[in-house]
Amino acid sequence: MKCFFACAMAAVLWTSCGGNETPKAPQAINAQDLYLTRCAGCHGTDGNLQLSGAKALSASTLKKEDIVNQIKMGKGNMPPFDGRLSETEIAALADYVITFRAK
Ligand code: HEC
Repeated sequence: MKCFFACAMAAVLWTSCGGNETPKAPQAINAQDLYLTRCAGCHGTDGNLQLSGAKALSASTLKKEDIVNQIKMGKGNMPPFDGRLSETEIAALADYVITFRAK
């Protein structure tokens, strides 16, 4: 009986490790994709749509930490994203919206 379990486990381990499946690496965050699905509806693909009172992101002067806070807490017509996006995703989005500013 002991061998049965040991062998069954070995078989399970072997099958789950074998094969040519791509290893499940942690999902890389694509800030642009996130922005387009979560933010562009109000802010537009270039940050300047200004729908429902959204501010033009290219004109924003907020510091990164303030942007992170605003994404988490929301403001005015902007919904809070805390809990819907991870810390890492929010930080990546903050970096991304800063790229809309004139360099
Ligand atoms: C439902 C529409 C809506 C969505 C979706 C939305 N926003 Fe906003 N956003 C707004 C509005 C409205 C404001 C202006 C809030 C205010 O100051 O009253 C704003 C303001 C901002 C600001 C501050 C600009 C400044 O300088 O004051 C940032 C940064 C921002 N949004 C980023 C984002 C990001 C990143 C996302 C996606 C995670 C997002 N927004 C999704 C409506 C939206």
